[in-house]
Amino acid sequence: MPAQIISGTEVAKQIREELKQEIDELKEKHNLIPGLATVLVGEDPASQVYVGSKVKTCEALGVHSERYDLPADTSQEKLLALIDRLNKDPKIHGILVQLPLPKHLNETKVLYAVDPKKDVDGFHPVNVGKLMIGEPDYLPCTPHGIQQLLIRSGVKTEGAEVVIVGRSNIVGKPIANILLQKKEGANATVTVCHTGTRDLAFHTKRADILIVAAGKPKAVTADMVNEGVVVIDVGVNRVGKSESGKDILVGDVDFDAVKEKAKAITPVPGGVGPMTITMLMLNTVRAAKLAAGLA
Ligand SMILES: NC(=O)c1ccc[n+]([C@@H]2O[C@H](COP(=O)([O-])OP(=O)(O)OC[C@H]3O[C@@H](n4cnc5c(N)ncnc54)[C@H](OP(=O)(O)O)[C@@H]3O)[C@@H](O)[C@H]2O)c1
Repeated sequence: MPAQIISGTEVAKQIREELKQEIDELKEKHNLIPGLATVLVGEDPASQVYVGSKVKTCEALGVHSERYDLPADTSQEKLLALIDRLNKDPKIHGILVQLPLPKHLNETKVLYAVDPKKDVDGFHPVNVGKLMIGEPDYLPCTPHGIQQLLIRSGVKTEGAEVVIVGRSNIVGKPIANILLQKKEGANATVTVCHTGTRDLAFHTKRADILIVAAGKPKAVTADMVNEGVVVIDVGVNRVGKSESGKDILVGDVDFDAVKEKAKAITPVPGGVGPMTITMLMLNTVRAAKLAAGLA
């Protein structure tokens, strides 16, 4: 039987409706408007699209947003001065520095400069550490989106064999950390695979839940999975242009073949993607509540 399609678009819509209600209440009862600053350096077209979507989502939900688009040759000092100003601005509860930054900028130093209380991406080492010990203020957006997709689609993680392909700091490692916590919606047995893994298929075939964040089309094919697996495909690969000039996007999983064996699978696009921005909004609301002593 073909797999259930887990629609990130639908789940994200549901969470956004809940958030909108919470944002309206915060405004009404506490005169509190969550605020997000986006900082983009340079003109990378994909980054411009991502930042544009984030700003649009803020507007749709009633989140105050400030967009800072800086030229590609912006100096490190100037960027750090902007972050310092935003750290001190009470209207701004979350700061998002769009990655990647141009090569002359030190990404680590820039991310470390964001006040951990405003680090709605969850990339600051303080927040990485808090996640690791099970006491997070913020969960990083894409991994949190994956966890919510599983929970809200009724996929049981407790005791499940979760296999993750990819160990990046923004997807692989944090989703591993989230799902191995002794908590509801987690408590899984987690294996993390990477290019040093000896026999990838040995591990992927053991998975009850397979999360793929490799950044390679068809990194996982049908012969690498077991019947009844739940597949979360995080990959976004641009493989060409449609006749209308739009990017053709595919994930990391051979979707057409794997969906014939899987119990459930996320599509690309329309799977993990829409969840990421939604969880950024959720973190911004949480940051505002934390700052106001309401969380
Ligand atoms: N939908 C969203 O919102 C969203 C958000 C973030 C990322 N993404 C997408 O998710 C994908 C992964 O992103 P990322 O930032 O995590 O990528 P990344 O930093 O490039 O990391 C890729 C990871 O996959 C591993 N890997 C690559 N090919 C492999 C293979 N054939 N077998 C086993 N492991 C393999 C790499 O191993 P090594 O460590 O050994 O090199 C690395 O750990 C990308 O397509 C990205 O665009 C989507």
